[in-house]
Amino acid sequence: MSLYKAKEFNIPEIKGISQKQIEEHLKLYNGYVAHANKILEHIESLKETDEGAYFAAELQRRFGFEFDGMRSHEYYFKALEGGPSPLPKESELAKFIEKQYGNLEKTKKELERVALTRGSGWAILYWDKKYQNFLTAWIDEHHIGHLSSLDIIVAVDMWEHAFMVDYLPGEKRKYFESYMGAINWKTVEDWFSEASRK
Ligand SMILES: [Fe+2]
Repeated sequence: MSLYKAKEFNIPEIKGISQKQIEEHLKLYNGYVAHANKILEHIESLKETDEGAYFAAELQRRFGFEFDGMRSHEYYFKALEGGPSPLPKESELAKFIEKQYGNLEKTKKELERVALTRGSGWAILYWDKKYQNFLTAWIDEHHIGHLSSLDIIVAVDMWEHAFMVDYLPGEKRKYFESYMGAINWKTVEDWFSEASRK
Protein backbone atom coordinates (compact mmCIF):
# COMPACT_ATOMS: atom_id res chain seq x y z
CA MET A 1 0.00 0.00 0.00
CA SER A 2 1.30 3.45 -0.92
CA LEU A 3 1.17 6.23 1.56
CA TYR A 4 0.21 9.74 0.47
CA LYS A 5 2.54 12.63 -0.24
CA ALA A 6 1.60 16.24 0.43
CA LYS A 7 1.42 18.16 -2.84
CA GLU A 8 3.18 21.45 -3.44
CA PHE A 9 1.08 24.31 -4.78
CA ASN A 10 2.26 27.38 -6.60
CA ILE A 11 -0.33 29.92 -5.58
CA PRO A 12 -0.04 33.52 -6.76
CA GLU A 13 -1.19 36.67 -4.96
CA ILE A 14 -4.94 36.49 -4.59
CA LYS A 15 -7.29 39.43 -4.43
CA GLY A 16 -9.18 39.10 -1.14
CA ILE A 17 -7.27 36.13 0.31
CA SER A 18 -3.89 36.95 1.86
CA GLN A 19 -0.70 34.95 1.48
CA LYS A 20 -0.65 34.58 5.27
CA GLN A 21 -4.08 32.97 5.10
CA ILE A 22 -2.95 30.58 2.37
CA GLU A 23 0.26 29.71 4.26
CA GLU A 24 -1.64 28.87 7.45
CA HIS A 25 -4.19 26.89 5.50
CA LEU A 26 -1.51 24.86 3.72
CA LYS A 27 -0.11 23.83 7.09
CA LEU A 28 -3.51 22.35 7.94
CA TYR A 29 -3.61 20.56 4.58
CA ASN A 30 -0.24 18.98 5.36
CA GLY A 31 -1.71 17.81 8.66
CA TYR A 32 -4.52 15.96 6.87
CA VAL A 33 -2.02 14.15 4.66
CA ALA A 34 0.11 13.21 7.68
CA HIS A 35 -2.90 12.00 9.66
CA ALA A 36 -4.34 10.00 6.77
CA ASN A 37 -0.99 8.19 6.55
CA LYS A 38 -0.73 7.76 10.29
CA ILE A 39 -4.14 6.07 10.40
CA LEU A 40 -3.24 3.72 7.54
CA GLU A 41 -0.03 2.72 9.29
CA HIS A 42 -1.70 2.20 12.67
CA ILE A 43 -4.49 0.11 11.18
CA GLU A 44 -1.90 -2.16 9.57
CA SER A 45 -0.19 -2.83 12.89
CA LEU A 46 -3.33 -2.96 15.08
CA LYS A 47 -5.43 -5.31 13.00
CA GLU A 48 -3.22 -8.31 13.77
CA THR A 49 -4.70 -8.91 17.26
CA ASP A 50 -8.31 -9.03 18.53
CA GLU A 51 -7.77 -6.17 20.94
CA GLY A 52 -5.96 -4.13 18.32
CA ALA A 53 -8.72 -4.79 15.80
CA TYR A 54 -11.17 -2.91 18.03
CA PHE A 55 -9.00 0.20 17.90
CA ALA A 56 -8.33 -0.31 14.20
CA ALA A 57 -12.11 -0.21 13.62
CA GLU A 58 -12.34 3.11 15.43
CA LEU A 59 -9.49 4.51 13.37
CA GLN A 60 -11.30 3.27 10.29
CA ARG A 61 -14.19 5.58 11.19
CA ARG A 62 -11.77 8.48 11.42
CA PHE A 63 -10.08 7.76 8.11
CA GLY A 64 -12.79 9.39 5.96
CA PHE A 65 -12.33 12.65 7.83
CA GLU A 66 -8.59 12.78 7.19
CA PHE A 67 -8.64 11.40 3.63
CA ASP A 68 -11.49 13.62 2.43
CA GLY A 69 -9.84 16.56 4.19
CA MET A 70 -6.66 15.85 2.24
CA ARG A 71 -8.30 15.30 -1.15
CA SER A 72 -10.76 18.20 -1.00
CA HIS A 73 -7.97 20.62 -0.10
CA GLU A 74 -6.04 19.42 -3.15
CA TYR A 75 -8.91 20.52 -5.41
CA TYR A 76 -9.26 23.74 -3.44
CA PHE A 77 -5.61 24.79 -3.76
CA LYS A 78 -4.99 23.42 -7.25
CA ALA A 79 -7.81 25.56 -8.65
CA LEU A 80 -5.86 28.65 -7.53
CA GLU A 81 -2.66 27.83 -9.41
CA GLY A 82 -1.88 29.98 -12.42
CA GLY A 83 -4.10 32.81 -11.22
CA PRO A 84 -7.65 33.60 -12.24
CA SER A 85 -8.55 32.59 -15.74
CA PRO A 86 -11.99 32.74 -17.40
CA LEU A 87 -13.84 29.63 -18.48
CA PRO A 88 -13.15 29.09 -22.20
CA LYS A 89 -16.44 29.96 -23.96
CA GLU A 90 -16.34 27.09 -26.42
CA SER A 91 -15.45 24.48 -23.80
CA GLU A 92 -17.62 21.48 -23.01
CA LEU A 93 -17.91 22.68 -19.42
CA ALA A 94 -19.25 26.07 -20.55
CA LYS A 95 -21.83 24.33 -22.76
CA PHE A 96 -23.11 22.07 -19.99
CA ILE A 97 -23.16 24.96 -17.52
CA GLU A 98 -25.19 27.03 -19.96
CA LYS A 99 -27.62 24.16 -20.47
CA GLN A 100 -28.24 23.61 -16.76
CA TYR A 101 -27.70 26.94 -15.07
CA GLY A 102 -27.80 29.48 -17.88
CA ASN A 103 -24.32 30.86 -17.27
CA LEU A 104 -21.31 30.72 -14.96
CA GLU A 105 -22.52 33.56 -12.74
CA LYS A 106 -25.73 31.67 -12.00
CA THR A 107 -23.68 28.54 -11.25
CA LYS A 108 -21.63 30.53 -8.74
CA LYS A 109 -24.84 31.82 -7.15
CA GLU A 110 -26.09 28.26 -6.75
CA LEU A 111 -22.80 27.25 -5.13
CA GLU A 112 -22.92 30.35 -2.92
CA ARG A 113 -26.35 29.31 -1.64
CA VAL A 114 -24.80 26.03 -0.51
CA ALA A 115 -21.62 27.66 0.81
CA LEU A 116 -23.55 29.88 3.19
CA THR A 117 -24.93 26.84 5.04
CA ARG A 118 -24.27 27.24 8.75
CA GLY A 119 -21.41 25.18 10.13
CA SER A 120 -17.94 23.99 9.13
CA GLY A 121 -17.72 22.14 5.87
CA TRP A 122 -17.44 22.35 2.12
CA ALA A 123 -19.58 23.57 -0.75
CA ILE A 124 -18.99 21.26 -3.68
CA LEU A 125 -20.05 21.29 -7.30
CA TYR A 126 -20.11 17.77 -8.71
CA TRP A 127 -20.58 16.33 -12.16
CA ASP A 128 -22.84 13.28 -12.39
CA LYS A 129 -21.76 11.68 -15.62
CA LYS A 130 -24.49 9.03 -15.55
CA TYR A 131 -27.21 11.70 -15.76
CA GLN A 132 -25.15 14.47 -17.42
CA ASN A 133 -26.07 16.62 -14.47
CA PHE A 134 -24.35 19.00 -12.08
CA LEU A 135 -25.20 18.68 -8.41
CA THR A 136 -24.21 20.85 -5.48
CA ALA A 137 -23.76 19.50 -1.97
CA TRP A 138 -22.89 20.70 1.49
CA ILE A 139 -20.30 18.46 3.15
CA ASP A 140 -20.26 18.53 6.93
CA GLU A 141 -16.69 18.54 8.23
CA HIS A 142 -14.77 16.91 5.35
CA HIS A 143 -16.57 13.67 4.85
CA ILE A 144 -20.26 13.71 5.67
CA GLY A 145 -22.53 14.12 2.70
CA HIS A 146 -20.32 13.29 -0.30
CA LEU A 147 -22.27 12.06 -3.30
CA SER A 148 -21.08 8.62 -4.23
CA SER A 149 -19.06 8.20 -7.45
CA LEU A 150 -19.60 11.78 -8.63
CA ASP A 151 -16.63 13.87 -9.71
CA ILE A 152 -15.64 17.01 -7.88
CA ILE A 153 -15.58 20.01 -10.22
CA VAL A 154 -15.24 22.84 -7.68
CA ALA A 155 -14.56 22.44 -3.94
CA VAL A 156 -14.89 25.50 -1.71
CA ASP A 157 -13.60 25.20 1.82
CA MET A 158 -16.09 26.91 4.13
CA TRP A 159 -14.37 26.09 7.42
CA GLU A 160 -13.50 29.21 9.38
CA HIS A 161 -9.85 28.20 9.20
CA ALA A 162 -10.05 28.93 5.45
CA PHE A 163 -10.79 32.63 5.96
CA MET A 164 -10.28 33.65 9.60
CA VAL A 165 -6.99 35.46 8.94
CA ASP A 166 -8.81 37.82 6.54
CA TYR A 167 -12.48 37.79 7.45
CA LEU A 168 -14.82 37.75 10.42
CA PRO A 169 -17.20 34.80 10.80
CA GLY A 170 -20.04 37.00 9.51
CA GLU A 171 -18.13 37.78 6.31
CA LYS A 172 -18.27 34.33 4.74
CA ARG A 173 -19.93 35.66 1.61
CA LYS A 174 -17.00 38.05 0.92
CA TYR A 175 -14.53 35.19 1.33
CA PHE A 176 -16.61 32.99 -0.98
CA GLU A 177 -16.66 35.73 -3.60
CA SER A 178 -12.88 36.17 -3.32
CA TYR A 179 -12.35 32.45 -3.86
CA MET A 180 -14.67 32.43 -6.86
CA GLY A 181 -12.75 35.39 -8.30
CA ALA A 182 -9.44 33.54 -7.91
CA ILE A 183 -10.34 30.29 -9.67
CA ASN A 184 -8.44 29.24 -12.74
CA TRP A 185 -11.39 27.95 -14.78
CA LYS A 186 -9.06 26.31 -17.31
CA THR A 187 -8.01 23.90 -14.56
CA VAL A 188 -11.64 23.26 -13.68
CA GLU A 189 -12.38 22.64 -17.37
CA ASP A 190 -9.57 20.04 -17.43
CA TRP A 191 -11.14 18.22 -14.47
CA PHE A 192 -14.52 18.31 -16.17
CA SER A 193 -13.07 16.91 -19.42
CA GLU A 194 -11.38 14.14 -17.48
CA ALA A 195 -14.61 13.32 -15.61
CA SER A 196 -16.60 13.29 -18.85
CA ARG A 197 -14.18 10.89 -20.57
CA LYS A 198 -14.17 8.22 -17.86
FE1 LIG B 1 -9.33 23.87 4.96
